[in-house]
Amino acid sequence: MSHVYLSRELTPGAMAALRSLDLPVVVHDDPDRPPSRDRLLRDAAGASALITLLTERVDDELLDAAGPDLRIVANCAVGYDNVSVAAAHARGIVVTNTPGVLDEATADCAFGLVLATARRLVEADRFLRAGTDWIWGPQLFVGLDLSAGATLGIVGLGRIGLAVARRAAAFGMRILATGRRAAGAEAAAYGVEQVELPRLLAESDVVTLHCPLTPDTRHLIGPDELAAMKPTAILVNTARGPIVDESALVDALRRGEIAGAGLDVFEDEPRVHPALLEMDSVVVLPHIASAGRATRDAMGRLAVDNVRAVLAGEPPRTPVQA
Ligand code: GLV
Repeated sequence: MSHVYLSRELTPGAMAALRSLDLPVVVHDDPDRPPSRDRLLRDAAGASALITLLTERVDDELLDAAGPDLRIVANCAVGYDNVSVAAAHARGIVVTNTPGVLDEATADCAFGLVLATARRLVEADRFLRAGTDWIWGPQLFVGLDLSAGATLGIVGLGRIGLAVARRAAAFGMRILATGRRAAGAEAAAYGVEQVELPRLLAESDVVTLHCPLTPDTRHLIGPDELAAMKPTAILVNTARGPIVDESALVDALRRGEIAGAGLDVFEDEPRVHPALLEMDSVVVLPHIASAGRATRDAMGRLAVDNVRAVLAGEPPRTPVQA
């Protein structure tokens, strides 16, 4: 059997699960950096399975380089905008992702960004670390109250959006949402009101994005959408960077069209727009929303189990549909 290629080492648990399959395994030798494109094309050649991350572009070129033995691309992420699913399916190659196992971790991080931006936690931390002379004061770092009836707008109420809604309900927030689960029973239990995007943008104190990146959602939040938000509002993005027009976001923040942003993802990762790094009202994270220990282990194990299933001639557990 030809090898399983991994573009990065996974958790010890996931690696042990993979090794127990008794297949030849080739793992990229740098745990901290993805392979160069040339290296990826070379090392994938002849593989029966590729376990990829969002740092790899899986396209015609890579699939051709892998060759005719390739049966599965197991993307170790819930998002699969880095994979040309059509190109894989045209070759009869299965594509899988890792849905379900990272909902809570991602929602925790999204809500962490909501709290950090609304209550200016990172800015206040920087203030103290700078050795600033301070004394308690009634106006010191005042921010947005979340529990006093603030409105959270969830763009894309899927599994992760629903997990965010659960947290917002516990905080006593009013919740608006777009997306396929917004009309469901669980959403109703959290008091979610299903609305169209324009109303969500106009009425929300915090807008949080949880839709996948597709041709339809690229720059879903652009200059007009930002201008439609309240000047006191905050934008949180733990989904994919290109859902937001990042230059338009910088302009909107500079003009005071919105008050702040909490960002785990960027339009051109790993580059972060330098202006965002200068703004106290912006909290930035290096794409870590799913980085819980158990979550990352579950993602890796699910990717491995998809490989196991497909190479054994069984249906994959979490296939990406065409
Ligand atoms: C992470 O961004 C993922 O899509 O799992």
